[in-house]
Amino acid sequence: MENYIYFNPTKIIFGKGTHSLAGEQVLAFGGKKVLLHYGGGSIKRTGIYDTVVASLDTAGVPFVELPGVVPNPRISLVREGIELVKRQGIDFILAIGGGSVIDSAKAIAFGSLLAPGKDIWDDYFMDPTATIPAAMPLGVVLTIPAAGSESSNSCVITNEDTGFKRGVKTELYLPKFSILDPEVSYSLPPFQTACGAIDIHAHMFERYFSAVEHTDVTDQLLEGAMRSVIDLAPRILKDPRNYGYRAEMMYAGTIAHNNSLNPGRGGGDWGSHQIEHELSGRYDMTHGAGLAIVIPAWMKYVSRKHPEKFVQYAVRVWGVTLPPSDTFGVIDAMIERQEQWYRSLGIKTTLSDLGYDDTYFQDMAEKALVNKGSIGSYCRLGAQDIVEILKLAL
Ligand code: NZQ
Ligand code: ZN
Repeated sequence: MENYIYFNPTKIIFGKGTHSLAGEQVLAFGGKKVLLHYGGGSIKRTGIYDTVVASLDTAGVPFVELPGVVPNPRISLVREGIELVKRQGIDFILAIGGGSVIDSAKAIAFGSLLAPGKDIWDDYFMDPTATIPAAMPLGVVLTIPAAGSESSNSCVITNEDTGFKRGVKTELYLPKFSILDPEVSYSLPPFQTACGAIDIHAHMFERYFSAVEHTDVTDQLLEGAMRSVIDLAPRILKDPRNYGYRAEMMYAGTIAHNNSLNPGRGGGDWGSHQIEHELSGRYDMTHGAGLAIVIPAWMKYVSRKHPEKFVQYAVRVWGVTLPPSDTFGVIDAMIERQEQWYRSLGIKTTLSDLGYDDTYFQDMAEKALVNKGSIGSYCRLGAQDIVEILKLAL
């Protein structure tokens, strides 16, 4: 087990009817003028918008709106938000939505405090060595359990001009509060419910594949959480208005990505996530759908080089009962079960299922490594490894 610092001050407010508390929380955290940031309109159809606006009115907090965040949020809207914040004297950002809205809000939160002459994209998203100096306070009303951005230190944005999708990390924009009302997820289409579950599982999976030794306590925390997500996802698809199932998935989404399940593990692998970001950047693919294609291919490739952790994962998470001495038999049975889980949720598991071929494999591999020597930590991957993984994903 490695040294670690665990710091996650986001106040989580969880349960039925809680999104009506947004206004008083903004006030409690000192917000005097708010940027209300949201996506394409689901919050108006579901009534969440009306409730949150009423709560801001009750709290006496004025606000300016910036809608229009799209999945795989764009740097152009972030730039628009930064200008709006400066022009309007805004001092608090309230994000209502999923990972895309929250990440766009995080980028505005630090982008609006950058020194003159600094460019948010070139000097931060494209420079992995940059340190973000400051961020404006941010609050969240979550509408979809998936990305975990409601209490993660990550922010992932797409540059639509260059096709790069890149993340930055800082504790400075960790939300002051995040409101998690599981009932708001009843309206999610099955595709988004499934992609959300796949992303949540993936955040645990990436943390699980660590090369650090003596991590049995957190191995077992992650294994138990992954088994629950695997079990819950099909139940929710059959019974989408079941509060208990939706509540458990929302809780899982948060703990999957707020580092509470992985102290001392060295952070995890994240190679599959970085390859998926190339697919999203190139094809504007939904993040969870991209992971369902990349992760099986990553497992097929990496398990041949470092089979150790895969056997434990196969036996403890997927209940594979072949003799553990049959290493590759066990691993292949596990990969088949995981692919079958994705497909049972209605999600495709190969690039050709979606009509994509190998045209951009070399380009995506090179882009994944721009400003980085390699990706992954359980198994370090270079350009040729990434191309081989993409071939296995065809
Ligand atoms: O735009 P609206 O109309 O709101 O529709 C959204 C969007 O089309 C819809 N939706 C959300 N809540 C809904 C709803 N529809 C009906 N009822 C509701 N209650 O769902 C669609 C997807 O929303 P999005 O925010 O894109 O989903 P998600 O939370 O999966 O976020 C994905 C983004 O987060 C990034 C991904 O790469 C992707 O860009 N990630 C962010 C991370 C982080 N910051 O920590 C980590 C992740 O690994 C991930 O990379
Ligand atoms: Zn993810």
